[in-house]
Amino acid sequence: MIGFAIFGAGFIGTVHATNIAAHPRAHLRYIYDVNRRAAEQLAQRLRSTVASSPEEIWSAADVDAVVIASSTNTHATLLSQAIQAGKAVYCEKPVDLEIERVKSVVQEARQSPRPIMIGFSRRFDRNHLAVHEAVQQGEIGKVEMVLLTSRAQEPPPLSYIQVSGGQFRDQTIHFFDLACWLTNEAPVEVYAAGAALVDPAIGDVGDVDTSMLILKMPSGALCHIDNSRRTTYGYDERIEVFGSRGMVQSRLKPLREISLYRDHQVISPGPYPSWFERLEPSFATALDAFIRVLEGQQVVYPTLLDGLRAQLIAEAALLSLRQNVPVKITYWQPA
Ligand SMILES: NC(=O)c1ccc[n+]([C@@H]2O[C@H](COP(=O)([O-])OP(=O)(O)OC[C@H]3O[C@@H](n4cnc5c(N)ncnc54)[C@H](O)[C@@H]3O)[C@@H](O)[C@H]2O)c1
Repeated sequence: MIGFAIFGAGFIGTVHATNIAAHPRAHLRYIYDVNRRAAEQLAQRLRSTVASSPEEIWSAADVDAVVIASSTNTHATLLSQAIQAGKAVYCEKPVDLEIERVKSVVQEARQSPRPIMIGFSRRFDRNHLAVHEAVQQGEIGKVEMVLLTSRAQEPPPLSYIQVSGGQFRDQTIHFFDLACWLTNEAPVEVYAAGAALVDPAIGDVGDVDTSMLILKMPSGALCHIDNSRRTTYGYDERIEVFGSRGMVQSRLKPLREISLYRDHQVISPGPYPSWFERLEPSFATALDAFIRVLEGQQVVYPTLLDGLRAQLIAEAALLSLRQNVPVKITYWQPA
């Protein structure tokens, strides 16, 4: 049994806590949230215990691993404390919106022998995984083009957009990671164009809600990512990898795989209503992968360095958007 504690009893913290409680080889020992009422409600539902402080978790011998699912501005500090306490960590993205803070945590993590996994949960979607497997096994030959579509059903509240770091750091970050994971490469250059076409208020706070990006990979492969904060038809996420021998797709996933044929028409259900409904199973699969890592199994998982890599691409993309020029991407390695 792996003993867990979780920081954050909000939206995604509740998802992780529920998955830990349901996992046959995990035990959710503590929940901590600065909003004690939220922690209490969750602890009551999952028969767990509310920690009165983070220190209680750091000193608990029965806590082997922590999930950091609290607000973004708390991740770096909690990561640093977890490293010092010798706990394994599953940390939600992003590590921090300040890139220098991310680098300093990555540097600190060099001293830790414990696994630190970043919540790039899309890597664990079963269709995306099958695309990855086909590419890695050479089914489509040499990768030449990757097309990624990321279209949310509706924009989040403006209050969220203002603290999210913007579309690239918040939404596209998952797709920067997917592009690297699928190709086994990190892009050398990015060009981004975008506008606030969905809601001018998003533009007024300095962000875009509609964007297209081109990434150039060292092998010469090209990657295109399109993002929108609004569809009129549900959540739209797709992957296509095109290579010298063929193509592999993770298609737009419909809510149900049925079609009604009548009156010279075919009626089929549309996509999932929201990103969460579409991707919910991937969170449990990601947690299971983390648990298998802790059990000593050979599992490839998204690391802190992968989190930093995706954020560095996001920073370069933002610069490209602002300056309207392609921007070279500079990576950083800990000493
Ligand atoms: N991987 C994904 O697809 C995905 C999806 C959603 C959210 N996230 C990330 O998860 C994080 C949380 O997002 P959310 O939507 O659940 O937000 P939320 O606002 O619903 O929940 C955040 C919770 O953290 C608590 N909190 C704040 N400071 C804390 C501290 N110091 N210690 C413990 N708890 C603290 C808040 O009281 C709140 O209950 C964000 O960083 C977000 O980017 C990732």
